[in-house]
Amino acid sequence: MSLKLAIGGKGGVGKTTITSLIARCIANINNNKVIAIDADPVANLAAGLGIDENIPITPIAELSDLIAERTGAKPGTMGGFFTLNPKVDDIPERFSLEKDGVKLLVMGTVQKGGSGCICPESTILKALMNHLVLARNEIVVMDMEAGIEHLGRATSGAVDALIAVVNPGKRSRVAAEKIRNLGKDIGIKKIVVLGNRIKSDNDKNLIKKSLPDFEILGFFPEIDEISEADKNGVRPFDDISLMPEQIKHIVKKLLDLSV
Ligand SMILES: Nc1ncnc2c1ncn2[C@@H]1O[C@H](COP(=O)(O)OP(=O)(O)OP(=O)(O)O)[C@@H](O)[C@H]1O
Ligand SMILES: [Mg+2]
Repeated sequence: MSLKLAIGGKGGVGKTTITSLIARCIANINNNKVIAIDADPVANLAAGLGIDENIPITPIAELSDLIAERTGAKPGTMGGFFTLNPKVDDIPERFSLEKDGVKLLVMGTVQKGGSGCICPESTILKALMNHLVLARNEIVVMDMEAGIEHLGRATSGAVDALIAVVNPGKRSRVAAEKIRNLGKDIGIKKIVVLGNRIKSDNDKNLIKKSLPDFEILGFFPEIDEISEADKNGVRPFDDISLMPEQIKHIVKKLLDLSV
């Protein structure tokens, strides 16, 4: 089964929470294998997936030896000669951590040296994203930083849906518009809205009214257990059967997009 999902939205709206719930929920159905990608410079998807915080995870962008071996150039080099299509197909298996059928890959960041920087680190990340999204017949769920910058033109056409997470409020329209424009710019075909931290029907209506021209994927309630778990650095709904119905409903809709 192939399904490629990107989760975006303004800072703090619940991207990481929603990504981890969706990834865990899909992996729980028919023992699906899921790859969760943490593409946020401040990586914190591991806790949401229930991965032991004592296990160190080195972001791919910081694996200097690997980058040097695969590109033929030391990280930090600019210009010079290195291959633009390094071997990356073994990286997901070798450098991910798995929990309950979800493999976590942490991308890390590249120190940008001006626009259009081509360096060994960015080359590896780009090749890896291309590989995950284009070459693999798998389920990939990506927790994007607010700007969805990690998605290049090459990969974004193969993304089945960009889920823009919004919270109820006046600014949700601005946030959703922004992400829709970004998504369209890089060629993502389907952009849907997920209302998170919903406390009432009024909240739902607010989102529907302010985003009449958006497809709404679903609404997810405000739940104390989620913020409490986050404070304690553990995952909410450790027992997956206790996950709220809404997430199962959302996942069902998403699985309908898969091929
Ligand atoms: N439905 C919810 N109910 C209660 N708390 C929530 C809910 N969704 C998210 N939160 C809380 O809101 C905070 C921000 O959530 P999260 O880290 O998932 O957002 P984010 O969009 O990934 O943030 P960032 O932009 O910093 O990466 C966390 O403390 C989280 O526990
Ligand atoms: Mg986050």
